[in-house]
Amino acid sequence: MSLPADALLNAPLSLRRIEPGGGLRGRVRVPGDKSISHRALLFGAIAEGETRIEGLLPAEDPLSTAACLRAMGVEVSPIEAGAEVIVRGVGLDGFREPADVLDCGNSGTTMRLMLGLLAGREGRHFVLTGDASLRGRPMRRVGQPLAAMGATIAGRRGGELAPLAVQGRRLHGTTVRTPVASAQVKSALLLAALTAEGPTTVIEPVQSRDHSERMLRAFGASLQVGGPGDTEVIVTPGASLRGQHVVVPGDISSAAFWLVAGAITPGSDLVVENVGLNPSRTGILEVLEQMGARIEVLDQRDVAGEPVGDLRVCHGPLGAFTIGEELIPRLVDEIPVLAVAACCAEGVSRVSGAAELRVKETDRLAVMARQLTAMGAKVEEFEDGMAITGGVTLGGADLDSETDHRVAMSLAVAALNAGSESWIARSDAAAVSYPGFWDDLTRLRA
Ligand code: S3P
Repeated sequence: MSLPADALLNAPLSLRRIEPGGGLRGRVRVPGDKSISHRALLFGAIAEGETRIEGLLPAEDPLSTAACLRAMGVEVSPIEAGAEVIVRGVGLDGFREPADVLDCGNSGTTMRLMLGLLAGREGRHFVLTGDASLRGRPMRRVGQPLAAMGATIAGRRGGELAPLAVQGRRLHGTTVRTPVASAQVKSALLLAALTAEGPTTVIEPVQSRDHSERMLRAFGASLQVGGPGDTEVIVTPGASLRGQHVVVPGDISSAAFWLVAGAITPGSDLVVENVGLNPSRTGILEVLEQMGARIEVLDQRDVAGEPVGDLRVCHGPLGAFTIGEELIPRLVDEIPVLAVAACCAEGVSRVSGAAELRVKETDRLAVMARQLTAMGAKVEEFEDGMAITGGVTLGGADLDSETDHRVAMSLAVAALNAGSESWIARSDAAAVSYPGFWDDLTRLRA
């Protein structure tokens, strides 16, 4: 089959053209929550019996987790949109030593949670790697507290960078403080604690998302949450986990693109269905409220231990926002799209205490500043944040996701509101967390 000339030209860079104008209307159901999807696979793998997962995110990141688990003898049924996924657990200590390197792809959650799961597998050796982005991301934040429990993890730059080698050992419980408010670090430690000798207390500087705590408890782990602002978790080992039926709600981090697109694009009125509203994730709703966005929560309900609702958003005038350090863990993945919202708001929006964004899939402060500046936005970048002066008309531009899924989708939202067409290079990055994003965009604009 021969391809048209422009398809051949565009294929390697995955270029996508976005015409501005026209509101977004109708209903959209975002794919399953990425954090919850990883956990359902991982906890199912170390449980006894079968775990059935409804609504699992069929995207590249959870596929990386599933591939690692299969390489260690866990049966995971095919992951396809709309299909229930079945995991046959091997028990807390049942992983087989893989004969090859475990590839975590682009997924920080896979690598970090896996480190916690594997560090205590006595007598077995594991090597974890990932793509170029993941091999540049900090891992000692997990390796160091795990070492306090007796773990042996080695890697480039003193264990900071993958590939990482884990020599499984019997771990001992202790009290560990995480160096950053990171659910990935916390979850790794909770997983390691399940088979350690004696209880483990994990203390975070600020509470990060608590999906692991909720789901581990549902699987039968013995776990207590307390301390100021629920920053301390105590795990008492000994309980085995039992397979569960997990229902994964829609990802609020994916819904964020539609919430911002609806709020800033004239003529928009849309409903995002089945969105997870766990309070440790809803910082974006508070910021949009601060901006005066027209958002309503419809039909709030509880689904399998997580709050869920439908969100209606309409276009309207917006004011600037201020986001400080305390709020960051509750909207860490939404800053790129909020930067886009800031461009369309009246006044100067500010983000501070967000240095963590520099060690995500890309340096998201630098990348968003660079890409939005190319559209004529007024962005000032700081070491730990940015200031954006809104009310400037964005211009169409040649844009680049720089391989980051959330950047690709944020730039699409910006391009809807530009004065002329934009091209987004490496738009295929969206498939890491939202493979149907471009189709949903086309449908909502029809
Ligand atoms: C995640 C936690 C966050 C988030 C990431 C997913 C998780 O990272 O950015 O997309 O599933 O635990 P940190 O916990 O490192 O901030």
